[in-house]
Amino acid sequence: MSIIETSQSLRKEMEKTLKPDRFDHTLGVAYTAANMAAVHGCNVEKALIAGMLHDCAKNMSHDEQLTICTKKKIPVTDVEKQNKGLLHAKVGAYLAENKYNIRDPEILDAIRYHTTGRPDMTLLDKIVFIADYMEPNRKPLPNMAEVRIEAYKDIDKCLKHILKDTLEYLSTTGKALDPMTQRTYDYYNKRG
Ligand SMILES: [Fe+2]
Ligand SMILES: [Fe+2]
Repeated sequence: MSIIETSQSLRKEMEKTLKPDRFDHTLGVAYTAANMAAVHGCNVEKALIAGMLHDCAKNMSHDEQLTICTKKKIPVTDVEKQNKGLLHAKVGAYLAENKYNIRDPEILDAIRYHTTGRPDMTLLDKIVFIADYMEPNRKPLPNMAEVRIEAYKDIDKCLKHILKDTLEYLSTTGKALDPMTQRTYDYYNKRG
């Protein structure tokens, strides 16, 4: 199967699997990621596939996601136990590999780190993380217009901007913050 055929068949799978709103979001992320990849010299097809699959575990309940982690010996952190919404990233990477047969480690990592980021992200990691935040179906957040311009002009500035806004937002919700988000922010902030 060519890479384009793969992304088309994944699109059909996601349409069957995800709720309509989540599917719209998924397409928004896939196409935004593909455009960002074109601008930044990253592989467009990989960005498309990573975007298409990034939320592939979202149709599962938190308990189902935890069961997969237990069965497949995927480590679950205390923060993920408290804020189970975080789990879908690592479960998504597992499903991408084992259910949807994606073997490319870069795509799997971009799915794995799409909610928290990580220090020293690959270009594909950054693209999927940013596309997830700013795709056109997202509810307007403060600074969204600026973020959308930065995404194409200065990707690291955009990344820091999103991380900063996310940390600020999370501090107001009382939801458990994944320390990885803070570590990612600190890493990119130190680099100026
Ligand atoms: Fe997600
Ligand atoms: Fe998403």
